[in-house]
Amino acid sequence: MSSANLTPEAIEKARKFCIDEYKDYIIYKEMAEREKSPRLKEILNKLAEEEYDHYLFWSKLIGEDCKSEVSKWTIRLLRLSRKIFGLTFTLKFLELHEKEVIKEYKEYMRYLDEENQKKLQEIIDDEMTHESRLMEDINEAVVRYLSFIALGLADAIVEISGVHAGFLGATRTTLVSGVAGLIVGVSAAFAMAGAAYLQAKAELPTETKGRSPAISALITGITYIFSVVLLALPYFLTSHQFTAFVISILFAILIVSGFTFYNSVISESSFKRELTENLAILFGTAFIAYLFGDVIGAFFGLQNVF
Ligand SMILES: [Fe+2]
Ligand SMILES: [Fe+2]
Repeated sequence: MSSANLTPEAIEKARKFCIDEYKDYIIYKEMAEREKSPRLKEILNKLAEEEYDHYLFWSKLIGEDCKSEVSKWTIRLLRLSRKIFGLTFTLKFLELHEKEVIKEYKEYMRYLDEENQKKLQEIIDDEMTHESRLMEDINEAVVRYLSFIALGLADAIVEISGVHAGFLGATRTTLVSGVAGLIVGVSAAFAMAGAAYLQAKAELPTETKGRSPAISALITGITYIFSVVLLALPYFLTSHQFTAFVISILFAILIVSGFTFYNSVISESSFKRELTENLAILFGTAFIAYLFGDVIGAFFGLQNVF
């Protein structure tokens, strides 16, 4: 089938698909060029090859070339993302729009004859199954240990924000709240690292994907301490209790949002739903802790002591 049989509207749509597939090809190719790990380089090259085939399909269909450029900044940003957040995140982020594309491709079927329908179905299959399988092969350390980073972050943020909220009710001295957060946080970090060690050790060999219990514990502990220090910091910088609390909670929201976004891209889950849940837990805990701190503080007359 040539472009002669397609309506102008269908050609216009195909041209847009063609340009997008070509851009995807360029992006994967450029990323493969800089990739240091030979195994990951091969995966990127395979992805580039697939996208090139997709580009060829559309290009042949409309009977014209639709090569286009990808801005240097896009490539630079993607390489930076690969360095900081890892390849799995970067690729899955790139493929976020894929669901939309698959829907559009399915709708496009009606313009095509049987032979081209079969080819387009193969492309849809590529985008749905082949790519995700390739991405699973990446098996990066950051993804392998993601659940332990999550364990450290989520627990620390809820717990320490709770401690701070409790002391917000109980005392007017920021130093007391700050120190309380640090003491609780450091001991909790060791407790959580221990729990992470046991959890990783209890995993079946099929579940571990090469995870080591000691590293799991270390990662949980380090992310925990990191969150504790960051959340306690405002209490040492201002003597105004409420200001410190607000800044600390803003840090908490920022970390939770950032991490939830990262996790939702990697695990292909709904960002909105997960964020709502996580923030509800954070604020729910803080609110209850505040009320409790207020009652305890009033009962023992703490607010007159410090
Ligand atoms: Fe594609
Ligand atoms: Fe793709």
